[in-house]
Amino acid sequence: MINRDRLRIAAQKNGRLSDPARDLMSRAGLSFRESRDRLFCFGETQPVDLLLVRDDDIPGLIAEGTCDLGIVGRNVLDEQRLERAAKGLPPAFQEIRALGFGRCRLSIALPQDMPWEGPQTLAGLRIATSYPALLDDWLKQQGVRADIVMLSGSVEIAPRLGKAEAICDLVSTGGTLAANQLREVVVIHQSEAVLAAPVEALQDERAEICDLLLRRMDGVMQVREARLVMFESPRDAVSTVLALLHESETASCCALDGQADWLSVQVIRQGKLDWQTLEDMKRAGARRLLVLPVEQMLP
Ligand code: PRP
Ligand code: ZN
Repeated sequence: MINRDRLRIAAQKNGRLSDPARDLMSRAGLSFRESRDRLFCFGETQPVDLLLVRDDDIPGLIAEGTCDLGIVGRNVLDEQRLERAAKGLPPAFQEIRALGFGRCRLSIALPQDMPWEGPQTLAGLRIATSYPALLDDWLKQQGVRADIVMLSGSVEIAPRLGKAEAICDLVSTGGTLAANQLREVVVIHQSEAVLAAPVEALQDERAEICDLLLRRMDGVMQVREARLVMFESPRDAVSTVLALLHESETASCCALDGQADWLSVQVIRQGKLDWQTLEDMKRAGARRLLVLPVEQMLP
C-alpha cells in the first residue's frame, strides 16, 4: 500500500445522505475547497480530502484503498459485504460508527390486495429488489425459496409492469409505497448512515488524522443530543431535583451570593427535556430553569 499523509473520505455526491454528511464533517471542523467537477474536494483546515461519488461506489473505494473512510448507508455496506462473502472474498470494510441520520428500513412490500401470512407467503414468488444479497440472506434465514429479480432502480413499479409479484426496497416515510399501492409487510434490515473504514487499521500518518477525526465526530454526535440545564435550588432540595433529571454525576453546584440556602446548579443532560420534567423540577423547589443546546464539548 502507498503511504499517504492525507486522509480521504468518500461521501455521497447527491442524495439523502449528502447534506447531513457535509454538516457532520463541517461540525467536526473540516472545510473543503471544491474542485470544478465537484468530485474531489481539497481539505483546507485539516489534511482530510473529500471524494464525492455514487453511494454504491463507496464500499469498493474503501476496499481498494482509494479512500480511508466513507459515509454511506448501512444498506449499501451490508449488501456489498454479503456480495463479497458470496464470492469468497475476504472482508475489506467495516462499519465503525452509526451516525444517527438517514434512518430507513429495507422491507418487503406486496400489492395492497394481496394477503400476507408470514414469510412463507413469498414462496415461489418473484421479488424485485436492488438488494439481492440482503434479500437472499433473509430468505435463507426464513427457509423460503423465491425468485430474486435484480433491478437497479424504480423497484416500486415492478409489480405493475408484471416483472414481479412483490418487492423488497428501502422505506423511509412510506410515501413511495403508498403512491404505488404497495403495503409494507415485513422489515428485513434496519439502516442509517454509518462511517465505514477498512478492516485493516491505517498505518501511516493517516492513523493519527483518523483518530482525531473520530474523536471530533464522537463529540459532535454526543452534543447533538445534549442539553445544558441550569437552575437555582434550595440546598436541601437539590438531590430531589437532580433525581428528576437522572444525571446527578455531571452536576456542578455553587453557592448563590447572599443567599446561603440557595445553590446555582448546572448539569449536562442527554436527550430532550419535556415540559412535564421542568414542571416537576419547579414543584420540587427549583426556580429560574433554563435549558440550552450544547454547541461543542470536550470532556
Ligand atoms: C429509496 C427507495 C424508495 C424511496 C423510499 O430510494 O428506493 O424509492 O427511497 O422513500 P420513502 O419511503 O420516503 O418514499 P432513494 O431515494 O434512497 O435512492 P437510492 O436508494 O436509489 O440511492
Ligand atoms: Zn444508490
